[in-house]
Amino acid sequence: MPENTQSNDPQITAHQKDHSDTSVTWQKFSVPFDYPVYFTERLFDPQNTVLLDTVNRFEPNKRHRIIVFVDGGLLEVRPELPREIQAYADFHSDSLELVTAAITMPAGEKIKAELHFIEQMQKAMAEHHIDRHSYVLAIGGGALLDAVGLAAATSHRGIRHIRVPTTVLSQNDSGVGVKNGVNLFGQKNYIGTFAPPFAVLNDYDYIRSLSQRDKIAGMAEAVKVALIRDADFYQWLEHNADALAIFQEDAMKYMIKRCAELHMQQIAHGGDPFETGSARPLDYGHWAAHKLEIITRYHLRHGEAVAIGLALDTRYSVLSGLLAHGEENRVCFLLEHLGFKLWHPGLITKSPDGQLTVLRGLTEFREHLGGALTITLLEKLGSGVEVHKMDDELVMQSIQWLKARCD
Ligand SMILES: NC(=O)c1ccc[n+]([C@@H]2O[C@H](COP(=O)([O-])OP(=O)(O)OC[C@H]3O[C@@H](n4cnc5c(N)ncnc54)[C@H](O)[C@@H]3O)[C@@H](O)[C@H]2O)c1
Ligand SMILES: [Zn+2]
Repeated sequence: MPENTQSNDPQITAHQKDHSDTSVTWQKFSVPFDYPVYFTERLFDPQNTVLLDTVNRFEPNKRHRIIVFVDGGLLEVRPELPREIQAYADFHSDSLELVTAAITMPAGEKIKAELHFIEQMQKAMAEHHIDRHSYVLAIGGGALLDAVGLAAATSHRGIRHIRVPTTVLSQNDSGVGVKNGVNLFGQKNYIGTFAPPFAVLNDYDYIRSLSQRDKIAGMAEAVKVALIRDADFYQWLEHNADALAIFQEDAMKYMIKRCAELHMQQIAHGGDPFETGSARPLDYGHWAAHKLEIITRYHLRHGEAVAIGLALDTRYSVLSGLLAHGEENRVCFLLEHLGFKLWHPGLITKSPDGQLTVLRGLTEFREHLGGALTITLLEKLGSGVEVHKMDDELVMQSIQWLKARCD
């Protein structure tokens, strides 16, 4: 309405008159994301062209600048890796320029515990003039990938990021996803972004050098995704538990690939890849797991905490009437068969107010998502269902059940 025009309509309030010059123009666009997930072996054998094909995807006739960050724990068992990477780059020097020798970063959760590691990587990218058409290559476990992903996503507002996951968990879950992050203010992944990788290059050869503990830990995510999404895969896990328990290679390879595919399907077809809604559909068992990791000061691996979270939420599913009695024993039996311990005293740690500390995980889960609490439970083995309320008393009963079972 023009400024000097008086409204005679009593329905038009003074408030509306004051803002009569307001207008809105909706901006709307969508950006397609696609990235290849390779399964290969001996990635840095000069005859293997997977990395070469990856960097050449958009600009085949160019020399690509690349900076490499490597997991220090991986280097302890593969000290020759930086030389192999250099030899690969030298062999393919028409296409690849390694801007500096591979940079070693701290192993495991340590890299996610202190922000200055992010700054250290950003500084290295700046000093070596890594631009938005260069590549950041991250080689390591899920923790390293999360940290390098964040450093890459926040430098120049996003540098092409290639992941080489080297643990079971990072190959079958975290590495193929779209999230990165580090821990701050006592919360897991408090600082992070959604930033799809440029490519994911899974090399089974790295799994061979992995500790028994980490081989087992990563299998929790396979049990998790099977439980909520794929009854056939769950049965396959049960039938192949003997082979998986001794890390038989064909079984491990199938488990990793199928688990990665199910995670990729959820991201591509679940309708909410950047989790703008109130659900984290693939995070079955994770509200307790994340809290347990913090309670134990990361002495429990992510996968180990997830296994306990799965056992807990499966018992809870039974107690709340969603899942048939007996199914929780079946799930616990599988997890134990794979090598997991399903009890940790951190589950009964109490806060100063007398409340179980782990219950705080539910509040943090809701706060992270925003809006209503959304937790995935089970209605069948292979089929998840979302609920919006968890009963503290039933959670405590589930914890007691688990304690009694494992005593
Ligand atoms: N971004 C996501 O979507 C997502 C999803 C799930 C988990 N995560 C994160 O992933 C992390 C857990 O990842 P993880 O289970 O791979 O553990 P990790 O990264 O802590 O690695 C475990 C240990 O294995 C070592 N290591 C790595 N590769 C090796 C190899 N090939 N041989 C020998 N040792 C090797 C590491 O140095 C480390 O000491 C957690 O921080 C978790 O929050 C992220
Ligand atoms: Zn997980």
